[in-house]
Amino acid sequence: MRTFETRFAARMARPTGALELMADLGAALAQAGQREIRMLGGGNPARIPAVEAVFRRRLQEIAADPAQFGRFIAGYSAPEGDLPFREAVAKSLRDQYGWPLTAANVGLTSGSQSAFFFLFNLFAGERTDGGRSRILLPLAPEYIGYADVGLMPDMLVSQPALIRELDGGLFKYGLDFDHLRVTDDVGAICLSRPTNPSGNVLTLVELERLDALARAHDVPLIIDAAYGVPFPGIQHAHCAALWNSNVVLCLSLSKLGLPAARTGVVIADEPIIDALGAFNATAALAPPATGAVVVEPLLRSGELAALCRDHVRPHYAAQSALAIEWLREECGDLPMRIHVPEGAFFLWLWCKGLPIGSEELYRRLKQRDVLVLSGHHFFPGAQGDDPHQRECVRLSYAQPPESVRAGIRVLAEELRRAYECG
Ligand SMILES: Cc1ncc(COP(=O)(O)O)c(C=O)c1O
Repeated sequence: MRTFETRFAARMARPTGALELMADLGAALAQAGQREIRMLGGGNPARIPAVEAVFRRRLQEIAADPAQFGRFIAGYSAPEGDLPFREAVAKSLRDQYGWPLTAANVGLTSGSQSAFFFLFNLFAGERTDGGRSRILLPLAPEYIGYADVGLMPDMLVSQPALIRELDGGLFKYGLDFDHLRVTDDVGAICLSRPTNPSGNVLTLVELERLDALARAHDVPLIIDAAYGVPFPGIQHAHCAALWNSNVVLCLSLSKLGLPAARTGVVIADEPIIDALGAFNATAALAPPATGAVVVEPLLRSGELAALCRDHVRPHYAAQSALAIEWLREECGDLPMRIHVPEGAFFLWLWCKGLPIGSEELYRRLKQRDVLVLSGHHFFPGAQGDDPHQRECVRLSYAQPPESVRAGIRVLAEELRRAYECG
């Protein structure tokens, strides 16, 4: 078997949580038609008919129009991404929030995951002065996809969330400002909002406090709104948003229903977008324009905002309520708590005192064709060994209701077996 000797290979070609997740998705797709796999693991969005109807219409419009067709498929865009779309994003954010943006503040990437690869290595890692800097995640658990994008090992440091147990079998994470330290080696602070995995949504006041802390240490605040406002808008609580020249806001077209178009959107101060363009040119010449061309007129006309408001958010709110009802029906007698679902499309389940650990639970469920994600992946940069890290699982409710229902039934059986027999 071929082995790779480079440090790059040691970092970028090793097994990671993100690889496991995407490989599970790929394997399930390859087996489609042979066996029924309950895909409650990955981050695939739902296929919402009203949303797909609009994208289909857009594809017909693009095919019929030589100018749009050219941008869509027949030309490289600028290294910062398709200019008309970037202008539309800047205008829509100016109009909606009053942020002073132009296209020069907007850069595209091949999915927002690759924006994090770029941003984390831009702000942290080995510095030219010989020092090393890291990315601070102020509230763990955090997104699995941050864990391994750093070219330097140990690039993340995280602060465990405060846990508040609530009535109705719920719990909620909170920022632990008292213990949050921005040490000299921190190069940026980063969080997802809504948080993947928990569906937590930090308030504007909390964001402003984090931004003030970041500014006091002269580092940027990266806000990952892959699920949040303004699009796809799967955010049921605290809908205000924050941007200023110290904030790097990362959006994505994936969770709207366009993950295959691989379109990440970074909103930042111009020098950061210039650096992003240089990175795109070096790594890929230019980012894809397909998603940008599909969405640009929808953004300009307000149709996108209406789709998010009338279809995307209500779809996930209804699915979330159903999944919680089924979990209560099936697991009501088990020591399990659900994180308050404030956004995104996951339920984060805390199985208190789980005797087998969440990795073993993941394996047992996988054997029964139910894919979830083990919670241990979601504590990147954690110091110490808190049992909470092995007591949680993330369950997506984006797939068809019958699949979610069946998956929850199997989850309840396996949890009961674990609590009763280990
Ligand atoms: C919080 C969060 N950020 C970023 C991403 C990356 O998404 P994409 O690369 O499809 O834009 C994901 C994907 O699941 C996510 O959950």
